Amino acid sequence: MSKLLLIDDDEDVRYSIQRIFNSPEIELATAASGEEGLKVIPKFKPDLVLMDVRMTGMTGLETLRRIRQNDPKLLVILMTAYGTTQTAIEAMKLGAYDYLLKPFDIPKLKEIVANALKAARDMRQVVSYEPMMESEDYELGIVGRCAIMQEVFKLIGQVAASDATALITGESGTGKELVARAIYHHSNRAEQPFLAVNCAAIPEQLLESELFGHEKGSFTGATAQRIGKFEQCNRGTIFLDEIGDMTPTTQTKILRVLQSGTFERVGGNQPLMADVRVIAATNKPLEAAVAARQFREDLFYRLNVVRIQIPPLRDRREDIPLLVNYFLKKQARDHERHPKSVAASVLKTLEKYHWPGNVRELENAIRRAYVLAKSDAILLADLPPEITGAGSLAAIPGVAGETASSDAAALARQLFQWAKRDPKLKIIPAVERELVIQALKETHDNQVHAAKLLGITRATLRKRIEKFGIQRELNVK
Ligand SMILES: Nc1ncnc2c1ncn2[C@@H]1O[C@H](COP(=O)(O)OP(=O)(O)OP(=O)(O)O)[C@@H](O)[C@H]1O
Ligand SMILES: [Mg+2]
Repeated sequence: MSKLLLIDDDEDVRYSIQRIFNSPEIELATAASGEEGLKVIPKFKPDLVLMDVRMTGMTGLETLRRIRQNDPKLLVILMTAYGTTQTAIEAMKLGAYDYLLKPFDIPKLKEIVANALKAARDMRQVVSYEPMMESEDYELGIVGRCAIMQEVFKLIGQVAASDATALITGESGTGKELVARAIYHHSNRAEQPFLAVNCAAIPEQLLESELFGHEKGSFTGATAQRIGKFEQCNRGTIFLDEIGDMTPTTQTKILRVLQSGTFERVGGNQPLMADVRVIAATNKPLEAAVAARQFREDLFYRLNVVRIQIPPLRDRREDIPLLVNYFLKKQARDHERHPKSVAASVLKTLEKYHWPGNVRELENAIRRAYVLAKSDAILLADLPPEITGAGSLAAIPGVAGETASSDAAALARQLFQWAKRDPKLKIIPAVERELVIQALKETHDNQVHAAKLLGITRATLRKRIEKFGIQRELNVK
């Protein structure tokens, strides 16, 4: 549930906004003036404020200034009528999160509010990392007990205390954003805003303006001045996500702001100062991008001063039981139900899987299984087929268990090693023959079932039986 405070002296506006946000997920309070709004805030503790700019009594700008003084992390969206956009721009300089033009485009209003609520949550929900997770009531934690994650935690602690730029790298779903937020929450800028910009999600030509703002008329479509994130987030922390996707011009500007703390709006020539801490992340191998001259080498070195490399989940399998437990608890809390457990076979399967989608994939699998499980225990059938490996060797009980490693690829590698040692072995026919025999034994010569188990057609199975001269009593059904 999110709390929204609406400050507007126009009763009609209050009424219509109340109707728009009438939903069980949103608790809305209203105030009819800036003065009243300032009194309501400490009591109601909103996640987000929607406020009119032009009000009788205290102006929207003055109210905004005071809100920011009391709590720089409280997000404010201003509503402004046509002709007052200059005020809106002033408001952005004061750190307003965004502004909306009246009359409202309702879907746009909803979208901006939803984005702001997400940003507010990211800012407030404290991310703890292992050294801080002793107590049970942490909101969001980075789980990890293995040695490499302990190193990551150590780095988080070290970099949080400084104001240094940090570069977080790792495959998709390894927890880069979580680490960025943990750094922020434990930094001395924790009381100031945190804004995330996904460089890959914003069209190239707009990213520069999103980050640094633009002057009116600086390009087609720049009908008014715009304040960018670096200006808006003064004294705060900016999280540049997917930094590997920036154009060379933006890269140059980022380098400059990191080196000298100054930047200019697009189309502007007045240098502006930015007091912003930058945390960057990417799942692209930046070294390779530098080698291919797609990423500026000097920017890379500037970012790489503190590097936090998050290992893929398959390199820290010993943390899987811990993560599973954590996600199960989280599910139970979200559903307000008691926690479910996992069967030992399920845990074994989870520990063996190679997790291309890393922790995010594990979390999704647990979320899905929690919902699907009919009893209090999660069973193999509740896991997605790609994890149980329906059709792959790893899924056959006993086969995977006897090999040193987990998945089909690992098993194949091992077989190949045998083949290398003994070239007479003719590994593929040998394995195929053994599989066919096993399947026929298992199914009491039921060819339909045997073929299904092997993932081949019955016709193919017949050919193999002939080819390998497997003489068994055929019990065709
Ligand atoms: N060590 C961890 N402990 C608990 N939850 C984790 C951990 N690592 C990741 N998660 C969870 O997994 C999901 C993915 O994490 P996050 O968004 O931080 O990954 P990412 O590296 O930024 O991924 P992408 O590159 O796809 O943006 C989130 O829901 C996050 O809370
Ligand atoms: Mg991410």
